[in-house]
Amino acid sequence: MTMKYKMCLLVATAFAAATLNAGAADGAALYTKKCVACHGKDGKGTTSMGKKLKVKDMTVTKPSEAAIIKAIKEGVTEGGKLTMKPVKGLSDDDAKAIAAYVKGLK
Ligand code: HEC
Repeated sequence: MTMKYKMCLLVATAFAAATLNAGAADGAALYTKKCVACHGKDGKGTTSMGKKLKVKDMTVTKPSEAAIIKAIKEGVTEGGKLTMKPVKGLSDDDAKAIAAYVKGLK
């Protein structure tokens, strides 16, 4: 194998790895884009929108992964009223990544 060929292989492998990584759902980025307005960066819901909608502090209520995914897909209903609408444009992987991120909020 020539040196030039080896270098080519190395670059191709690195490129493939970077592309794969970019395809993986980034929970933090998705949370920032889709949830922060109401739930706040720290999940405490102290944004103006969060206060208006009486969003609870998720670091206190500690919803399960399943509950977070359900909230994203079906929304949240309390006392027969839809308090949070389902969040559109997220795949199953996106929802899972967001749930993992929310679980990590302290
Ligand atoms: C337009 C405002 C808004 C956006 C955007 C929003 N939510 Fe909510 N969310 C609410 C409201 C209102 C509630 C009902 C009050 C509560 O339970 O905090 C709620 C409730 C929840 C609950 C149940 C809370 C608990 O403590 O059990 C979860 C989980 C949740 N949201 C997750 C998310 C995630 C994840 C996103 C982003 C993908 C998101 N929400 C985006 C307004 C929003």
